[in-house]
Amino acid sequence: MKTLVILAHPNLDESIANKRIAEQLSAKVEKLEVRDIFNLYPDYKIDIKAEQNALIDADTVIFQYPFYWYNMPAILKVWFDEVFNFNFAYGPEGDKLKGKNFMLSFTIGGPDDAYSPLGYNHFRIPDFLKPMEQSAYLAQMNYLEPVYEHGMVYIPGVYNTKEAVEEKSDVQVQRLVERLDALANENPENKIKKFAKDWFEHFDLMADDGYFNNYIANGAKLQFPEGEFIGHEGFSQWYANMKKNIKPNNEHRIESINVSANNGHFDVDLAVKLKAETFEGESIQINAKENWKVEITRDGRVKIHEYIVKTV
Ligand SMILES: Cc1cc2nc3c(=O)[nH]c(=O)nc-3n(C[C@H](O)[C@H](O)[C@H](O)COP(=O)(O)O)c2cc1C
Repeated sequence: MKTLVILAHPNLDESIANKRIAEQLSAKVEKLEVRDIFNLYPDYKIDIKAEQNALIDADTVIFQYPFYWYNMPAILKVWFDEVFNFNFAYGPEGDKLKGKNFMLSFTIGGPDDAYSPLGYNHFRIPDFLKPMEQSAYLAQMNYLEPVYEHGMVYIPGVYNTKEAVEEKSDVQVQRLVERLDALANENPENKIKKFAKDWFEHFDLMADDGYFNNYIANGAKLQFPEGEFIGHEGFSQWYANMKKNIKPNNEHRIESINVSANNGHFDVDLAVKLKAETFEGESIQINAKENWKVEITRDGRVKIHEYIVKTV
């Protein structure tokens, strides 16, 4: 999984928190690129193509910045206005960011209790993030829970100590690293592999057809050795026949599984060995090659659009 950090700080030399967070992320996370956009574009003239290419290359984008006036620093706003443009992030061909993870990571000067209806900042932090959240949705990205720490400003002799800000920065890094680890394990490939295991365990038990239809798209094309079937009704029809003949507690063993991304969906190639017994007491052993075409929906679920089973 590739991670892109868009680091936006107009005065990184004076930064304690964001500088430390960006440095530590670089040191701790593999396949991570930090783009220090104020350093790249001190005149605010963004190289749109370069930024878009960096985004296309990434699976997860972290926006790392100090909270300024309940919002992001100006350089990041300019960056969004120009880089998330028509037919890139939105519009009829604007699906270039579809499915990528979008995570805000920022540092807040004020204390936690100030950000509540009775505190002097009146609103909660997620309230201030709504425009960013909706921007992620419009760009068809996965908006993840933001990561932030409070009390991140050091004003010598007035507020905080440098060490306290450094400690909280380290906590923020730790939280980010944990989140990235979890995401890496939750990549679509792993998700589909886990799903396939679960799917066949349900076949072993001859579970209710509702379980299977949950994951089958409307109108999905299902091709079994017994013939071609369409969608939920088709599946239920085929499965009812199977249930009449085959006893539960059979065994489907996945011998191999290969998942590859293909234009917004995934091709899954499987070799499966089935050992079962019919109600007439006959043992069956089947080697099957299966080719599935699946989608990971925006709420993270697997949907099967094509399901082809051939015996070999
Ligand atoms: C221009 C400016 C605006 C700021 N606005 C806010 C704000 O709205 N709310 C807040 O809690 N802190 C605010 N702060 C404090 C910053 O969030 C804090 O200094 C920063 O997160 C520390 O990160 P750094 O060490 O990387 O600079 C502001 C600071 C500056 C310089």
